[in-house]
Amino acid sequence: MFTSRAIGFVGSPYKSTGEIPKGLGAKHAAEGVLKILPEFEVGLTDIEGFSHLFVIWEFDRSDRVELMGKPPSDNRAHGVFATRSPRRPNPIGLTVVELLRRDGGELHVRGVDMLDGTPILDIKPYLSGVAMEKLRRGWLAEAEARG
Ligand SMILES: C[S@@+](CC[C@H](N)C(=O)[O-])C[C@H]1O[C@@H](n2cnc3c(N)ncnc32)[C@H](O)[C@@H]1O
Repeated sequence: MFTSRAIGFVGSPYKSTGEIPKGLGAKHAAEGVLKILPEFEVGLTDIEGFSHLFVIWEFDRSDRVELMGKPPSDNRAHGVFATRSPRRPNPIGLTVVELLRRDGGELHVRGVDMLDGTPILDIKPYLSGVAMEKLRRGWLAEAEARG
């Protein structure tokens, strides 16, 4: 077994899942704050130089696991590991956010899709390395083409 602990919590405008944009073409432009606990703040040193960050977090309000499920962006079922569903065996979320500014232990970001109070497990700089022409988008591209 592994154990993780929160390094901080998300301050998000979203208080319930119904408020978060979902489905094909959903845009995540909401601003939020990654509030890092004082004991970890020194770990943010030099983060200001990065425009975007990976945020790794816990789906702390996910109530079950579903190995197959229909995502909001399709009417067909897919395996959980081919989706971004919250109902995962290990309920870990991954979101890319834009870093707007740092204020001590608070990172002001754009692009949150987490509920308010969501525990943050880790933050890493986002360094995109996959050329667009190499990227395949699987069932999502088919769902987008179907409209
Ligand atoms: C489709 S998931 C994608 C999350 C992340 N971008 C990822 O790919 O892992 C986003 C949804 O997770 C749900 N969600 C957000 N915060 C949550 C939390 N703390 N616990 C459980 N579900 C959450 C909301 O329904 C939200 O629309």
